[in-house]
Amino acid sequence: MQAIKFFKEFLAAPVHVGAFAASSSYLAEATASAAELEEASVVVEFGPGTGVITRKILPKMRQDARLMAIEIREDFAKIMREKYPEVTTVHGGAEETAKHLQEHFGVDQCDCIVSGLPWAGFEEALQDRLLDAVDEALKPGGRFVTYTYFQSPLLPGGKRFRHKLRERFSETGETSMIWLNLPPAFVYWGVK
Ligand SMILES: C[S@@+](CC[C@H](N)C(=O)[O-])C[C@H]1O[C@@H](n2cnc3c(N)ncnc32)[C@H](O)[C@@H]1O
Repeated sequence: MQAIKFFKEFLAAPVHVGAFAASSSYLAEATASAAELEEASVVVEFGPGTGVITRKILPKMRQDARLMAIEIREDFAKIMREKYPEVTTVHGGAEETAKHLQEHFGVDQCDCIVSGLPWAGFEEALQDRLLDAVDEALKPGGRFVTYTYFQSPLLPGGKRFRHKLRERFSETGETSMIWLNLPPAFVYWGVK
């Protein structure tokens, strides 16, 4: 049922949703592992969709840590609230992360941001707005993690995004290719 829902959301908003199916558990595991969540007390997930990465994030978090998921599509936010009542799901834009953190957790910044946003398909102004929001909401030394499909570094939007990550973070890295995802994908990480 959720696979059909995901596909329908993709047809309704292809640029926002950016994929016709949710990430595989292999990619979700690689993304959540790259976040190194052992020490984090406040974690934010961008674009959880149906929550496949959320499922891998939760067991990696400290018991007293809090997770906020920010999802722009109302139906996905509803699914998230039903599946993960322990997660604070906000129906809204990642562009306003600092505001959501203050409103729901009473803090200005978080330790880690795990993103499921389809960055390579976003135009430059939106990439900049979202990366400004990451910068505003992430503590110094905080970790930003996102995944991308194998072909994105060859596309103009994906090339630009990779360049911006290298410019904006003091340290960046990539995992090896996760071939068992469809399409194959890998994970970028950056330390502020
Ligand atoms: C490629 S899907 C990833 C879904 C899920 N994380 C996964 O890996 O299967 C991208 C998700 O980002 C959400 N999204 C897109 N732009 C957003 C924004 N500005 N703020 C919050 N969520 C956004 C979409 O609605 C969708 O759920």
